[in-house]
Amino acid sequence: MALGVESDVARDFGAKPIDVISTKAALGAEVRDVDLKELNEFEFAALKRAWHDHQVILVRGQTLSDQDLIAFSRRFGDLDWAPIQETGRRFVEGLPEIYVVSNVTVNGQPIGSLGAGEAVWHTDMSYLDVPPMASMLFALEVPPAGGNTSFCSMYSIYEALPDELKGRIANLKIKHDGTYNSGGYLRQGVTPTDDPRASPGAVHPLVCTHPDTGRRMLYLGRRRNAYLMGLELADSEALLDELWSFVERPEFTWEHVWRVGDLVLWDNRCTMHRRDPFDSSARRIMHRTQIKGGAAPV
Ligand code: OGA
Ligand code: MN
Repeated sequence: MALGVESDVARDFGAKPIDVISTKAALGAEVRDVDLKELNEFEFAALKRAWHDHQVILVRGQTLSDQDLIAFSRRFGDLDWAPIQETGRRFVEGLPEIYVVSNVTVNGQPIGSLGAGEAVWHTDMSYLDVPPMASMLFALEVPPAGGNTSFCSMYSIYEALPDELKGRIANLKIKHDGTYNSGGYLRQGVTPTDDPRASPGAVHPLVCTHPDTGRRMLYLGRRRNAYLMGLELADSEALLDELWSFVERPEFTWEHVWRVGDLVLWDNRCTMHRRDPFDSSARRIMHRTQIKGGAAPV
């Protein structure tokens, strides 16, 4: 035991504990040549630093059981339970932490959420008062084409806003809708509504400061049923459209093309993500965990 620890220390001296290769886009980096089941504490600390620097981390070539995925996720903190499946059931018997994203059906029943259609830009579970700080998605089966996932940096988007617009939004609060998921499906137990003022959800500041990096970011969550508190609905819609016009700009995004064995970890506070549709006759199976946030966004 003592020997093992000493050799880890020795390996950390001088040499970088892990290889971090930036995507060169506004966000994202790949960590190469690691097995997430066996990261020592130095490698883990370096991976966490890279995650703070790059917001999204890709690690390819992993073989992870659900238990392995949960064990690695827990190194970041306690886990949130996954939202209930669109069918009202839990995804994986005995493992409430696992969220399954899949279009595959067994005996006519979907095994996961979000189908094969587009999943629109969103932050995970920001309809909670304390949303998860991170999510990680592990690819078990991927279609031959389509189903790519894009990420955008809410730091970069905030920094790019004209000063005049930054001024107008400085003290606003936004409601993050809890009615529909990013695939457009109604969440379990919720009454459908398209009135942003009446829909259930959590209210957060529109501009937040990241608790770990201290950087400012725009916090949009998702477009559908979003509402800027206290504004006339038409004014809220117009200002939201203005802010959302920055989201799709390629200079703020990075697109990931999946391979089986990819793990992608994102900072759920300062990024959003979306997924391309894919052929519904192809199979796509991803397992996700979500790491509890430490406090409500401020
Ligand atoms: C998610 C999600 C999109 C995808 O797991 O939170 O939005 O690419 N997934 O499967
Ligand atoms: Mn998501």
